[in-house]
Amino acid sequence: MTFSPALEQRFAKMLESYPPGKQRSAVVPMLIYAQDEVGAVTPELIDEVARRCGVEPLQVDEVVGYYSMLHRERLGKYHVQVCTNISCMLVGGEQLYQHAREKLGIGNKETTADGQFSLEEVECMGACSWAPAVEINYDFHHFVTPEKLDKLIEDLRNKQ
Ligand code: FES
Repeated sequence: MTFSPALEQRFAKMLESYPPGKQRSAVVPMLIYAQDEVGAVTPELIDEVARRCGVEPLQVDEVVGYYSMLHRERLGKYHVQVCTNISCMLVGGEQLYQHAREKLGIGNKETTADGQFSLEEVECMGACSWAPAVEINYDFHHFVTPEKLDKLIEDLRNKQ
């Protein structure tokens, strides 16, 4: 399995930065970057990362099962993550998540039919002081209201 030249270069640099025998430390960042390019953590990708990092595919598979930011299913172009953990829940995170479900017409870890949006209810994202918080791809949004979420979604729809 090969990746884009830019990603291949990034992986080569990454593997060089670890001492000999410690390439296993590259498993998580490699999975995250590869997921962005491939669209999902596929069985083929797991095998490839295991080979490059010198570990067993089962070990990589266990890592994928542990980290919620790694997804075996293809995500939407825009992955909307709504936090419903305690700080966000206390200021409307749960209602915001329900609003997102209705707005997008999908449930947790589902993707819209056009492949544009996916939705996920997530645990604390470390943005408690700005709750309720939403992350769309790698962009954080703070003090999100249903109206603000509608605008974010509409702006992304219009961007396509
Ligand atoms: S509880 Fe939502 S960001 Fe911490």
